[in-house]
Amino acid sequence: MDARDPAGLHTALCMLRDYGFVCLEGVPATMEATEQASRRVSFLRETLYGPGMWRTEVRAGGGNDTAYTGIPLPVHNDGCYWADPPGIQSFHCLQGAPAGGGTSILVDGLAVAAALRSQDPDAFDFFASVELPYHHTDPDAEVSQRRPVIGVDRATGELASFAFNNDDRAPLRLSPPSRVPQFYKHLRTLTSLLRSPAFELRLSLQPGTYLIFDNTRVLHGRTGFKTDSGRVLAGCYIGKEDWHARLRTVARAMGKYTPSVTLQPPAPPAAPTPPVAQ
Ligand SMILES: [Fe+2]
Repeated sequence: MDARDPAGLHTALCMLRDYGFVCLEGVPATMEATEQASRRVSFLRETLYGPGMWRTEVRAGGGNDTAYTGIPLPVHNDGCYWADPPGIQSFHCLQGAPAGGGTSILVDGLAVAAALRSQDPDAFDFFASVELPYHHTDPDAEVSQRRPVIGVDRATGELASFAFNNDDRAPLRLSPPSRVPQFYKHLRTLTSLLRSPAFELRLSLQPGTYLIFDNTRVLHGRTGFKTDSGRVLAGCYIGKEDWHARLRTVARAMGKYTPSVTLQPPAPPAAPTPPVAQ
């Protein structure tokens, strides 16, 4: 397919909807070409990380986020501290890490939620109902928000979203306080699943391959790399309503529009799961 054509763009957006991510091949490894491809999807969101497109690379002092270091990052969702987390996040490797490392890791949060529901219903109920606090503070920004890890569609009962970032959690002030030890008990189970290779997809991104994923469903992380490696990722955030609107209009142009065109399908069957840590 060619994402520059309406049919190709429709296919790419349907893959994003159905699988939670899509890789576009043949995108020139420049900020300009990456932005052009991104704007085919929709408007770029301006945030505290920059106006539209941003570069993820090692910064002196680590910048205002762990992304700007070379340390390994456990899988997480971005923007848990915002009222409206990014619907889409994207990565285009403009320059790799010649010495190795920097492998991207994706985990389908809906598959993890489905496994948690079958393996540990108490933990599932906790993470689907208790709002966890998140925050981000730097010299120019201070934002905070509370949200449950697992979102369930109230109308259908289907798993709908996933939001978790252990590194961005704020001090726990749960009510009643008895929920705090419950949290740590259930966190052990959740972390065991999120770190399980059974749920991981590892991608060694290369210049030319542009990864776009649903940040409200798919968690992302990376292996560590040397800080002097020169690794550079270009990317952006796009709002969920904006890329859904583009999917509807492209589907309409293709004669494939239905009122439910942007509804997420049920979560895929859970991958084989390892024993849960007790
Ligand atoms: Fe991130």
